[in-house]
Amino acid sequence: KALGCAALLILAAVAPAALAEAVTRADFPPGFVFGVGSSAYQVEGAVAEDGRKPSIWDTFTHGGYSIDNATGDVTADQYHKYKEDVKLLHEMGVDAYRMSIAWPRLIPDGRGAVNPKGLEYYNNLIDELLSYGIQPHVTIYHFDFPQALQDEYNGLLSPRFIEDFTAYADVCFKNFGDRVKYWSTVNEPNIEPIGGYDQGINPPRRCSYPFGFACEDGNSTTEPYIVAHHLLLAHASAVSLYREKYQAEQGGRIGLTLLGWWYEPATETPDDIAAAARMNDFHIGWFMHPMVYGDYPPVMRKNVGSRLPSFTDEERKRVLGSFDFVGFNHYIAVYVKADLSRLDQKLRDYMFDAAVAYDMPFLKSNNQFPFGLTNDFMTSTPWALKKMLKHLQVKYKNPAVMIHENGAAGQPDPSGANTYDDEFRSQFLQDYIEATLHSIRNGSNVQGYFVWSFLDVFEYLFSYRLRFGIYGVDFNSTERTRYQRHSAKWYSSFLRGGELRP
Ligand code: NOJ
Repeated sequence: KALGCAALLILAAVAPAALAEAVTRADFPPGFVFGVGSSAYQVEGAVAEDGRKPSIWDTFTHGGYSIDNATGDVTADQYHKYKEDVKLLHEMGVDAYRMSIAWPRLIPDGRGAVNPKGLEYYNNLIDELLSYGIQPHVTIYHFDFPQALQDEYNGLLSPRFIEDFTAYADVCFKNFGDRVKYWSTVNEPNIEPIGGYDQGINPPRRCSYPFGFACEDGNSTTEPYIVAHHLLLAHASAVSLYREKYQAEQGGRIGLTLLGWWYEPATETPDDIAAAARMNDFHIGWFMHPMVYGDYPPVMRKNVGSRLPSFTDEERKRVLGSFDFVGFNHYIAVYVKADLSRLDQKLRDYMFDAAVAYDMPFLKSNNQFPFGLTNDFMTSTPWALKKMLKHLQVKYKNPAVMIHENGAAGQPDPSGANTYDDEFRSQFLQDYIEATLHSIRNGSNVQGYFVWSFLDVFEYLFSYRLRFGIYGVDFNSTERTRYQRHSAKWYSSFLRGGELRP
């Protein structure tokens, strides 16, 4: 940690100074999209209503595996409050709302019959957004995998998932594509395999190693790579379908959304520099490399060996170029140190394969992870976003990028009212929006920016103990009252033409 903090200080000292002139949204290229985001399981509630069936997250939370035994059963209740929410979005002045569709609401068994009530809900939400001129940016799959398919064939571990996902995407394009012009196939396929199939901290709780988490299995070191492979192929298959059948007529754009942490060397030693590069290849390159060059990064081929799946010629062709834009969820810089001894260990997991160890200096030193955090525990490191965008520019041919998530976590207000002054969050967002503009001026092709999140939501791993919302939600009230925070007020003034740093 000390090493990481030292590195942070050094970097802060050499980082380019803040842009001198006052920034407003007029400084961004024409058509640049500003929005806020959420996802279905985190915000909708109504999990057993109108024909929705469980996803693996319902099973997980009801199985007692979540912090505080919390569930998404009601959460912010957007299912019932969507009109009120769209009004808030309108008042705030966003161009776009990033939302996801719950697969088990639209196709409750994962395959086959479409739920008319599911269709109705998403049609209503999309129409409501459009009636205020707000663009829906829709994620097709955001972690809430149908339990029925999990039970039937082990979910993402089976290639049958690819076919079912494509059929589900087809239903989405067919029913909503006349109005939805931005599609993201899958959210964070580069972290889902780790949480669910390597560390076992997320459903379906499978592990590559018995590290004291409550895991089902402690044997497979191959599963995360298989799951990622299937997610990539499912993504590519949905993109092919969209391009062949819908894109010309509907005129939308399609991509996927990756977790875009930036890995920074903990020290300037050649070993740590190489370790950080390796980790960026393992994490960002895991999906970007096949989509831009047709195979996994060479260092993954070398370190993971035969456990890393290969592509048939047909798959390679399908994966290559399978995006119009790439979404990135960017929050933090993670510091890494080389740990080459890991490559000699028998027990192989993802981090062992990458031969790195993490340092976590993004947490301010008076905090303990994950709890006991103060409200502004995330260090603002906008230089990391700039480095990540530069990396995409240089290494992956400057793709069109949407920053699909960026935001700062806080704790619930001890009073329960959630009205606290989150000026720390406004400042955090200002730093990152400024970094985005800086990157655009340096040639990066960023086309949109979405704050995570619109509302306080069920924050998967941390239940309701972490709050990202620029609107607070009172989870103790049956009405799930929304509260405008400082950050929402500030964002609104910026969206309406005010200065970035008023
Ligand atoms: C990643 C995920 O896409 C989202 O579901 C989550 O709430 C945020 N980032 C914050 O952790």
